[in-house]
Amino acid sequence: MSSIKQTILVALGVCFVASIFVSTAAVKLKPIQVKNKKMDLLKNILVAGDLYKEGEDVNKIYKENVQPEIVDLKSGNILKKDKFDAVMNPNDFDIRCAVNDAKWSEKIPADKDIAGIKIMPTAMAVYQVLDKNKNVIKYILPIYGKGLWSTMYGFIALDKDLHTIKGFTFYDQGETPGLGGEVDNPKWKKLWIGKQAFDKSGKLKIEVIKRIVDPDDPDAKYKIDGLSGATLTTRGVNHLVRFWLSDDGYGHFIKNLRGDKNEQI
Ligand SMILES: Cc1cc2nc3c(=O)[nH]c(=O)nc-3n(C[C@H](O)[C@H](O)[C@H](O)COP(=O)(O)O)c2cc1C
Repeated sequence: MSSIKQTILVALGVCFVASIFVSTAAVKLKPIQVKNKKMDLLKNILVAGDLYKEGEDVNKIYKENVQPEIVDLKSGNILKKDKFDAVMNPNDFDIRCAVNDAKWSEKIPADKDIAGIKIMPTAMAVYQVLDKNKNVIKYILPIYGKGLWSTMYGFIALDKDLHTIKGFTFYDQGETPGLGGEVDNPKWKKLWIGKQAFDKSGKLKIEVIKRIVDPDDPDAKYKIDGLSGATLTTRGVNHLVRFWLSDDGYGHFIKNLRGDKNEQI
C-alpha cells in the first residue's frame, strides 16, 4: 500500500517539476518566438520583392531596400505618422492585431466578402521597394483570405507600372500538403510573375482558373493555372487576390498612384 502511495507521490512530483520546466521555457522563449515570427515576415516580404538572398542579413536587406507605409484603404492615401499607434504602424503591422482592434477594423458586408474574412483592417501596410536613387520600383501588398481549411496569408508584388505582377507568396497557410498546400510550391508561385493584374483601362482582370491556361488564349496574360486536386483552395486564392486588388482592398491606393495624387492624411 505504502509503495503505491510512494509511486503516486513520485509521479506527482515529476509532473510538478516538469510543469515548472515547461512553463518557464514557454515564458522565456516567448520573446524569441515573437522575434523569429517578425524575421520570418520580413523574409517573406523580401521573397515577394525578389530581394531575398539565402544566408544574407534579412534586417539589413529590408532596411536598405524597403520603405513601409500605412495606407488608409477607403481613401487610398498614406497615413501620416501622427496617426500611428501601437497597432497601426509600419514597423509592427500585423493583420491579426489590426483585425482584433475595433479602431482599425470593420465588418465586411456578406455580399462583398469574397475572401471570406468577415472583418478587415481599415488600413494596411504597403511595402515599397526602392532603387538606389530611392525611387519606388515595386509595391508589395499583404493579402489574405480563406482557403479550404485555413486563412491564407501572403503578399503580391506589383511593378511600379501598377499592372505587372512581380512576386507572389504565402507565408502562413494550413491547406493540405500536396493538394491546397501547393500554393507554396515555388513553381506555381513563379507562374504569377509577369502576369497582368489589370488591363490597359485599369479594369481588374487577374484570375486563377480551374484548369491550365491555354497559351493561345488572348487573355492568357491575365490568367493563372489552378492547382490540380485543389479546386477549393484555388478558388480561395482567386477570390482573395481579386478582393485585395479591388476597390474594397488596395484599389483606391492603386488608382491614386496612377493619377499620381497620393496624399498623406
Ligand atoms: C484529405 C483531403 C484533403 C484535401 N485537401 C484539399 C485542399 O487542401 N484544398 C482543396 O482545394 N481540396 C482539398 N481536397 C479535395 C476537396 O475535398 C475537393 O474534392 C476538391 O477541392 C474539389 O475538386 P474538384 O471540384 O476538382 O472535384 C482534399 C480532399 C481530401 C480527401
